[in-house]
Amino acid sequence: MTFTFKKATIAIAASCSLLLSACGSGGEQQSGSEDKKVLNVGTEATFAPFEFMDKGEVSGFDVDLLNAAAEEAGYEVDIKNTGWDAMLAGLQSDQLDIGMSGVTITDERKETYDFSSPYFESVSMIVFKEGTNITKAEDLKGKKIGVQNGTTGQIAAEAIVGKNDSSISKYEAAALTFQALQSGDVEAVVTDIAVALEYVKNNPDAGVKTVSDEQFTPEYYGIVFSKGSELKAEFDEALNTLYENGTYTEIYKKWFDEEPNLDVLKE
Ligand code: ARG
Repeated sequence: MTFTFKKATIAIAASCSLLLSACGSGGEQQSGSEDKKVLNVGTEATFAPFEFMDKGEVSGFDVDLLNAAAEEAGYEVDIKNTGWDAMLAGLQSDQLDIGMSGVTITDERKETYDFSSPYFESVSMIVFKEGTNITKAEDLKGKKIGVQNGTTGQIAAEAIVGKNDSSISKYEAAALTFQALQSGDVEAVVTDIAVALEYVKNNPDAGVKTVSDEQFTPEYYGIVFSKGSELKAEFDEALNTLYENGTYTEIYKKWFDEEPNLDVLKE
């Protein structure tokens, strides 16, 4: 089987060099499943259940959804745990085609990147050690707070305690905020609701609690593209197909054990 396939590839390659017009432009032909264009994807994989490392592979809801969307759009994806800052830099320098990392669509980010239509509704949540007096967002005032640098959790925390408040420690990866909570370096973490709940679920002995607050407003995740990328339209169409053919629901139920509300995702 492998042998036959290899021979076939060689045969195709040979005829390509003789008859370029029959072969599309440089390795981008979309016809056969074996020669789909590979898109380079960056992520920050300490953000379970959206992306996390599992036996050396990036796994999670985002991974399943992006794989399904890419398949629908006729691409392959190569997802690398680049980290958050490198992901954003890589998109700006066009070294990456896609950022898939639970990234919230914000007006400010839209100036620099393009986003797919929304694929997940989220909101900020506070995680704190049992015994710390936090029952609402206002209680963050005067507390040592941990956030992932440059995220909407940082924005949400700053909205409560002020932008240049030195009580906010900023970490480059989401997991580092939880480590800081465990070590006592911070008293509270502000992060995305599903990530907060997943952390509590996976760490039943950590002695942490969560609290939500209406001051935190809903936000929506989008797939991130370099500004002006043609991929946006193709992935929007693919996402729509996944909403309609049940694939999105299947993936959502796998990771969240409940039905998604598709209405909030339709723009
Ligand atoms: N949704 C938040 C934001 O866009 C946090 C995303 C963090 N993602 C991650 N993989 N660490 O700012």
